[in-house]
Amino acid sequence: MTDIGYLNGQFAPLEEIKISPDDRGFLFGDGVYEVIRAYHGVPAFWGEHFARLVRSAREIQLAFSLEQTDFQRLLLSGLQRSGYQEGKIYIQVTRGVAPREHAFPSKGEPTVFLSFRKMVALPMEVSQGGVSVITCPDIRWDRCDIKSLNLLPNVLAKQKAREAKAFEAIFVREGWVSEGATSNIFAVKDGVIITPERNHFVLAGVTQQQVVTLARAKGMDVQFRPISISDLLQSEEVFLVGTTIEVLPVIQINGEPVRDGTPGPITTTLQKQFGAYVSDLTLS
Ligand SMILES: Cc1ncc(COP(=O)(O)O)c(C=O)c1O
Repeated sequence: MTDIGYLNGQFAPLEEIKISPDDRGFLFGDGVYEVIRAYHGVPAFWGEHFARLVRSAREIQLAFSLEQTDFQRLLLSGLQRSGYQEGKIYIQVTRGVAPREHAFPSKGEPTVFLSFRKMVALPMEVSQGGVSVITCPDIRWDRCDIKSLNLLPNVLAKQKAREAKAFEAIFVREGWVSEGATSNIFAVKDGVIITPERNHFVLAGVTQQQVVTLARAKGMDVQFRPISISDLLQSEEVFLVGTTIEVLPVIQINGEPVRDGTPGPITTTLQKQFGAYVSDLTLS
């Protein structure tokens, strides 16, 4: 088993992949990306990730021609070469290689890069015991719906969280909670499951949508609506979701316990449901 890379049509061991210093992804963060998790060799929700990748590329006027079936073939081929059953697939598409000038190059092909690595899941005591988070100002731009390579505010926020010995930083914009630096957020208030509506300040999370669908299928009340910071701090339960973390209980915000500082029953139920769903995924 080995880490595999793919660059513009060629697979190779990941450490052998070379990217030009003139790549606009490197110079400007001029590109988009996705992360897909593979469970027992099955890339989860790959169609949803592909749709978001295509949308992100379109929103930044990046012409990118990869058919959905070719994309799936690429994922399966890379996974097979890597030998990983539990995999983390990173996909990045940039505006290609050109001399450094801000405006788009008149010609040139996009760079399509993928990596296939082993997925290292969170330790059980973290995923079941829950995590601490901090809140921080959302200093990002107003197109957070695009999964762009420009992640500096997320990087700085995540570092702030790490320095505070917290797992995640929750962005707050003018008193409203948007999402985590690398996750979407849910709160439970009066028994209703709430997650911020999808707009230009929030990434439309694939896991977020899946959790909403699973919860509604169980008859739970789920609403996309704004969460104020004061609502968040008084929530009965809080949890994060994302491709690599799945459903993760939050037990502390800014040093204050959520509930009694232990994961709540709705969170635990959804976590189990999500786990059962992905463990049953098959290639389709
Ligand atoms: C800012 C942000 N929000 C939300 C998510 C969760 O999205 P998904 O569930 O599609 O992985 C991520 C994942 O990387 C993210 O970076």
